[in-house]
Amino acid sequence: MKGPVFSLLPLVMTSVLLTASPGDGSTVSPVRNFSAVLGQSVTLRCPGKPGVHITRLYIQTKHTHAFINGFDVQFELDVPHEYLNRTKVNKTDLSMRMSNITVSDEGSYTCIIFFSGDKESFDINLKVTAEYSVPTVKAECDERIHRNGSATGGKICQLSCSSTGGYPQSRVEWPELHQSLIQIINNGSSKDPHYKTWTINQTITYSCDQPTNVSCSIGGIVSHPITICQADSFPLRVIAATVVVVIFVLSLILGLVLMKCYQRRPRPRPEDPALEVPLA
Ligand SMILES: *[C@@H]1O[C@H](CO)[C@@H](O)[C@H](O)[C@H]1NC(C)=O
Ligand SMILES: *[C@@H]1O[C@H](CO)[C@@H](O)[C@H](O)[C@H]1NC(C)=O
Ligand SMILES: *[C@@H]1O[C@H](CO)[C@@H](O)[C@H](O)[C@H]1NC(C)=O
Ligand SMILES: *[C@@H]1O[C@H](CO)[C@@H](O)[C@H](O)[C@H]1NC(C)=O
Ligand SMILES: *[C@@H]1O[C@H](CO)[C@@H](O)[C@H](O)[C@H]1NC(C)=O
Ligand SMILES: *[C@@H]1O[C@H](CO)[C@@H](O)[C@H](O)[C@H]1NC(C)=O
Ligand SMILES: *[C@@H]1O[C@H](CO)[C@@H](O)[C@H](O)[C@H]1NC(C)=O
Ligand SMILES: *[C@@H]1O[C@H](CO)[C@@H](O)[C@H](O)[C@H]1NC(C)=O
Repeated sequence: MKGPVFSLLPLVMTSVLLTASPGDGSTVSPVRNFSAVLGQSVTLRCPGKPGVHITRLYIQTKHTHAFINGFDVQFELDVPHEYLNRTKVNKTDLSMRMSNITVSDEGSYTCIIFFSGDKESFDINLKVTAEYSVPTVKAECDERIHRNGSATGGKICQLSCSSTGGYPQSRVEWPELHQSLIQIINNGSSKDPHYKTWTINQTITYSCDQPTNVSCSIGGIVSHPITICQADSFPLRVIAATVVVVIFVLSLILGLVLMKCYQRRPRPRPEDPALEVPLA
């Protein structure tokens, strides 16, 4: 049952292609999707026509019809200045290599091939991506205070996550946290005016009662984990208490010494002659 259907398929496709080539370049064919990484290169390939002698190839932007590069078997084509060094056409496989990709290169292109007095166009979509930097996550935690004023034993933390240099725009995720306990305080995203890449930034508050490992993720890149809601480390408390006690004792001693000095100096000596003056 399947055999005949599949063997018929190429035949049907071929006849569709043939009948749908009226020669006005309006052929509807599937869009070809390409993806490139910012700063790197991509090869955009136009579908060839086996056995057909291509006399000319144009690659242009789909919407503004701005010519980018191509070839003509008879004469040199005038390649725009900004594409001269960045693009290279291969006449054999009807492809164009575009290097030093920028975000502005993202979009739709049309590839027009001319052959024996006829022409055909194909649409090409180019998507650009740039990897986000490894996000940095920071936390500041405080004792959580109950409405009635007593400590609950838990903590409330302000967490912030930020990453830069990515494309397209992305959002912050906190995979380890309970989504319902996250309160977003601030979302920030800004676009680099030159490279058009994004800096993403989010600040949340989160309450927890026990040590929790947290990382955040932006554009699929995950931060190093940090641990929040840890019990205050014992040595730290001891050090703090010791410092307080030492300061207290020192000031006590200082106070006593000062008091001794103060009491000693003004005490009049009985043989002081000055004392007798007012009496006289
Ligand atoms: C190309 O991407 C578009 C969406 O951007 C999608 O609808 C289409 O199916 C894709 N074409 C191919 C051949 O993958
Ligand atoms: C292209 O490269 C040539 C030689 O490498 C250089 O002289 C020219 O300035 C470059 N043009 C552009 C638009 O970058
Ligand atoms: C053009 O493409 C063909 C087929 O992929 C390849 O063999 C050839 O080396 C390419 N030519 C250049 C100049 O890159
Ligand atoms: C690549 O593009 C960037 C941004 O437009 C530019 O600063 C850089 O000089 C280009 N590098 C090359 C090798 O063309
Ligand atoms: C405050 O509320 C908590 C939880 O309801 C309770 O356990 C605690 O005893 C209360 N403290 C005071 C001082 O009312
Ligand atoms: C922050 O962005 C998220 C989507 O990433 C959205 O659901 C949320 O409402 C935004 N919050 C604020 C305070 O802007
Ligand atoms: C994140 O956004 C806040 C508020 O917009 C800002 O104060 C903070 O500096 C930003 N952090 C980073 C790392 O960009
Ligand atoms: C957090 O991570 C540390 C180190 O990776 C691990 O030892 C600890 O068990 C983790 N704690 C929790 C609560 O998952």
